[in-house]
Amino acid sequence: MTKEIKVCMGSACFAKGNQDNLEYLKEYIEENNLDTEISIIGSLCENKCSEGPRIIVDGTEYKKITREQISEILRS
Ligand code: FES
Repeated sequence: MTKEIKVCMGSACFAKGNQDNLEYLKEYIEENNLDTEISIIGSLCENKCSEGPRIIVDGTEYKKITREQISEILRS
């Protein structure tokens, strides 16, 4: 089943780290040939900017997410 990763692209989350996180996700997917298993979707601001940067993986919300945490999620 394809994993869906939603990355908040609102300006606050983007500036707080999702720009970097998005790059990292794309690199990881490319390097590991996971493009058929993981799809990345950009989402608009959901007015939870203080919890940013936010990503949602198959419906589970992660707040103040870092590159390291993303790599743990991807490996699991
Ligand atoms: S910018 Fe992500 S919740 Fe507002």
